Amino acid sequence: MSTILDISINVKEVSESRLKEVDLDNLAFGSTFSDHMFEMNYKNGAWGDAFIKPYENMTISPACSALHYGQAIFEGMKAYRTFDDKIMLFRPEKNAKRFNISANRMSMPDVPEELFLQALHAIVGLDKKWVPAKDGYSLYLRPYMFANDPYIGVRTSNNYKFIVFTCPVGKYYSKRIKVKVADKYVRAFSGGTGFAKAAGNYAATLYPALLVGKEGFDQVLWTDGYEHKYVQEIGTMNFFCIIDGVAYTPPTDGQILEGVTRASVITLLKDEGYTVKEQAITIQEIEKAFDAGKLDDAFGTGTAASVSPIAEINYNGKALTINENKSISEKIKTRLDNIKYGREEDRFNWMVEVMH
Ligand SMILES: Cc1ncc(COP(=O)(O)O)c(C=O)c1O
Repeated sequence: MSTILDISINVKEVSESRLKEVDLDNLAFGSTFSDHMFEMNYKNGAWGDAFIKPYENMTISPACSALHYGQAIFEGMKAYRTFDDKIMLFRPEKNAKRFNISANRMSMPDVPEELFLQALHAIVGLDKKWVPAKDGYSLYLRPYMFANDPYIGVRTSNNYKFIVFTCPVGKYYSKRIKVKVADKYVRAFSGGTGFAKAAGNYAATLYPALLVGKEGFDQVLWTDGYEHKYVQEIGTMNFFCIIDGVAYTPPTDGQILEGVTRASVITLLKDEGYTVKEQAITIQEIEKAFDAGKLDDAFGTGTAASVSPIAEINYNGKALTINENKSISEKIKTRLDNIKYGREEDRFNWMVEVMH
C-alpha cells in the first residue's frame, strides 16, 4: 500500500511475471503488455478507489456511456532505459497538463497533475524490468480515461475510470514515410476537438488513412476543413518542413494536437541555429518551394516515432520528393534520442527519473 496525495493505492502484484515469455529485443508496436495496470475511479465528484493490479480484462456495462457517446481521452508517452541503466520519463508534466486540456474539452473531470504523475511513477517503478534496453526501444505508457455511466442518454457522465497500462515497444517506422495531402476528408476544424487527445478524433481518421494506405502512402497530411489549403498534422505526428533554411510548423490554433515532441524539436532546431516559424503554411507554398528546389526537408514529430523523416508529400498526384542527403530531421532525431537515452547532456531538463 502506498499513498498519492490523500488517496491510497492498493497494490496487488502478479504471483509470477510474464516477462520471461517476452523477447524485449524483438518487439512490434503496441501488442505486448507488461505485468501490471493502474486504475482509479471517479464517482460522487471525487477520485478514489485507486489500485495497481495484474494487467487483466475489465468488466463494464453494455450501456457504458463512453462506448456510445465517446467520452474517452488518452495520452501517449514513454519511459526510457538510459545507457547507465536509469529509467527516465520524457517531460511527463506536459502530458499531465495536456490530459486535463483534453478532459476539459470532453466535459470530463480533471485528474490532478500530481496524481497523474504519481500514478505513472508507481506503475513504471513496479514494472521497471519491462523497460527494454535496446536502442530505439522503450516502455510506452498509455494513461486514459473514459466515462463509465451505465446509462443511455447524451449527457455528461458522472462516473469515470482512469487507467494506466504500459507496453514495451520497438521502433514505429523503420523507413522514411510517404504522405498524401488530404483533399476531401477533414480531421479538425475551428471550434472542434482537434487539440484534444480524444478517442473520436482518431476514429474519424481511420477510413481516410485506409484509403491512402491502398494507394501506397503511410499517412494522410491533414489540411484545414474549409479550403484544404493550410497543412495541419500527420496521423499521430505534428508536421515540420524546412524551406530555404527556415523551419515552419503549423501553429497550435486549436486544430492540431500540441505535441510534446513538437515543442522539444522547436527547441532543438533553435539550438541548432534555425529560425522556427510557428505559422500557418499552405500546401501551395510547400509546392512552390519544392519547384524552386528550396524544400530542404519535411518530417513528422511524435512520441511513437520520435522524428520521422518524410520521403514524399503527394499533392494532387504530384510527388514532392525530399532529398535524403539534406536531412536535417535525422540530425534532430539523433539529438532528441541521445537526450532520451542519456547520451547527450539534458540541458533543457526534460528527463525525470522514475524513483520507485
Ligand atoms: C494527432 C496527433 N498529433 C501529434 C502527436 C504528437 O504528439 P506528441 O509529440 O506529444 O506525442 C500525436 C501523438 O501523440 C497525435 O496523436
